[in-house]
Amino acid sequence: MSREQRKWDHIRFALGNEQKSSSAFHDIKFLHNSLPNSSVSNVRLDSFIGELYLSSPIFINAMTGGGGEKTYSINQKLAIVAKEKGLAMAVGSQMAAIKDPLQRYTYEIVRKENPSGIVIANLGSEATLEHAKAAIEMVEADALQIHLNVIQELTMPEGDRDFRDALKRIEMIIHHVQVPVIVKEVGFGMSRETVQSLSSIGVQAVDIGGFGGTNFATIENKRRLQEYTFFEDWGIPTPISIVEAAMIEKPISIIGSGGFSNALEMLKGLALGADAIGVAGYFLKILVREGIEKLMDEIDRIHNEMLIIMTALGAESISKVKNAPLIISGETYHWLNQRGID
Ligand code: FNR
Repeated sequence: MSREQRKWDHIRFALGNEQKSSSAFHDIKFLHNSLPNSSVSNVRLDSFIGELYLSSPIFINAMTGGGGEKTYSINQKLAIVAKEKGLAMAVGSQMAAIKDPLQRYTYEIVRKENPSGIVIANLGSEATLEHAKAAIEMVEADALQIHLNVIQELTMPEGDRDFRDALKRIEMIIHHVQVPVIVKEVGFGMSRETVQSLSSIGVQAVDIGGFGGTNFATIENKRRLQEYTFFEDWGIPTPISIVEAAMIEKPISIIGSGGFSNALEMLKGLALGADAIGVAGYFLKILVREGIEKLMDEIDRIHNEMLIIMTALGAESISKVKNAPLIISGETYHWLNQRGID
């Protein structure tokens, strides 16, 4: 099976992959404040991932890899949305275009459509320094994502079976590229120990890619007859993983992602410690099923709802959302408690 066919399967099956569990967000509630002393007109949505300035805390996370006309078309549409709505955008894994330069156009279109926006390159942890430099150059990237997808690879019959030395390769890349590097998961979450290991080699930003949204174990199982169903309920739920990342000793920029589909969940993610929120599957579904205009409307709606909720919280900036008091119950409470976090 070609890389292009496999990646298209991912898109097809992701569209049918309804959220596995967003219950962890239900475990988290904001404490109501009757005297917020705030005004909608004063609320600002801009944020930072390290030194990278974002005019919105939401960004379009990596989705389309594999090359081909479908990648081109989806990347072009997402880039138009990103430009119109001022969102940063990560492209999908660029390895296909590094191996076959004829596929470069399917990624280059993102920079062409959005010459001055924030574009994030993407590769897996098998990438070498040369691959990383090529990926950054291809889209004139402002940052590079390196994804960790052990469970997805193990679930794929043609996937990798050897995950040694990922940290060494990442370390080599972060010290020799000119843009910030974000190490990301793809839907199974990161533990505090993982984030600590990444921090100790100098990684300054992680995207915890938590459990609760797009589920690559389910997607890969749908693509074949033999099923590793035990991985479908595997992973660290998104809100918990954000807290895990926020608990390491040296502060690190945190991107929350994995299952976000509304403003309230996004603000809960930010209140738990994220600096920005990445959205993949939810935006892809709207784009493919309902079109580009609907996706732009949805982003407007989310931005508006964020302004309203932040006013209710008395938090007029994203950094102030982090101080909003939260009540945590249920499984999330027990998980955090067992991990010594309260
Ligand atoms: C992805 N994702 C992804 N991530 C990555 O780092 N490189 C990639 O090439 C891809 N490809 C990809 C294709 C499709 C169709 C989807 C839906 C997703 C993972 C994505 O960036 C994100 O981490 C997860 O999807 C979890 O977020 P959501 O979808 O729950 O918002």
